[in-house]
Amino acid sequence: MAKDLWTKLKTNPVGLAKNAVVKLVVNPIKYRKGEGYDAERYWRDRFERHGANLTGPGDEGLSEDDNRRMYEEAGQKLLAILADEGVDPAGARVLEIGCGNGFFTGLMHDAGVRDLTGVDITDVQFERFRARWPEFRFHKADITQVAPEGRYDLVLMIDVIQHIVTEDALADAFKHVKSVMAPGAAFVLYPMTDRSRRHMLHVHWWDTDDVRKHFDGHAVGDAIPFRYSNLVVIRKAG
Ligand SMILES: C[S@@+](CC[C@H](N)C(=O)[O-])C[C@H]1O[C@@H](n2cnc3c(N)ncnc32)[C@H](O)[C@@H]1O
Repeated sequence: MAKDLWTKLKTNPVGLAKNAVVKLVVNPIKYRKGEGYDAERYWRDRFERHGANLTGPGDEGLSEDDNRRMYEEAGQKLLAILADEGVDPAGARVLEIGCGNGFFTGLMHDAGVRDLTGVDITDVQFERFRARWPEFRFHKADITQVAPEGRYDLVLMIDVIQHIVTEDALADAFKHVKSVMAPGAAFVLYPMTDRSRRHMLHVHWWDTDDVRKHFDGHAVGDAIPFRYSNLVVIRKAG
């Protein structure tokens, strides 16, 4: 994270300052909703602001070029992690929770995936996704509210968990994920931080202990360094 902050200071100090004001002052007023926050509205506004750019799901404090570099590195790392896990995405039924602007959807497509369901709390990107990947299905759904239909061999939830900000909502999200994992399925979850804590209105950093207690009877793998934090792979017994 310190490296991230240094990159932002060097490459985009104005963006960094603007981002801090928005996150600390504007968003808590605009997106507060009960105990949590209005995630649907937050993401709809964010994607309408950034269109197809990677800055939308990525880091608004970084330039588009730096976001792209970071995503491309993460994509290659994810493919290597899946290979180490013995997961062949090409033959898998894939569920992607929180598709963002479709970076990992495209990565899966290019890795040979032909069966993918994407769910996201906002559908603002879906028209573009359906035109680009007509063989994939996309549904608007909040993973804390509803279990997607179907059974999946590979579930990706990348850069979403920290936007689920209450214990109850996290428990519901995991209940829904577990209900759709086929025997032997792999659940790829990122980020896992080293210390669980609430961070601003729309972020809660969760750690592996927060996750492990929901996955009795599953194999929770070791933390693997990924992007600015760690990723874990959780396997259901085959
Ligand atoms: C930071 S972006 C990450 C997107 C993508 N996975 C990536 O890594 O580029 C978070 C994504 O999760 C979606 N999201 C946030 N909360 C969600 C929820 N409760 N259920 C489903 N999607 C959610 C947002 O709309 C957004 O597309």
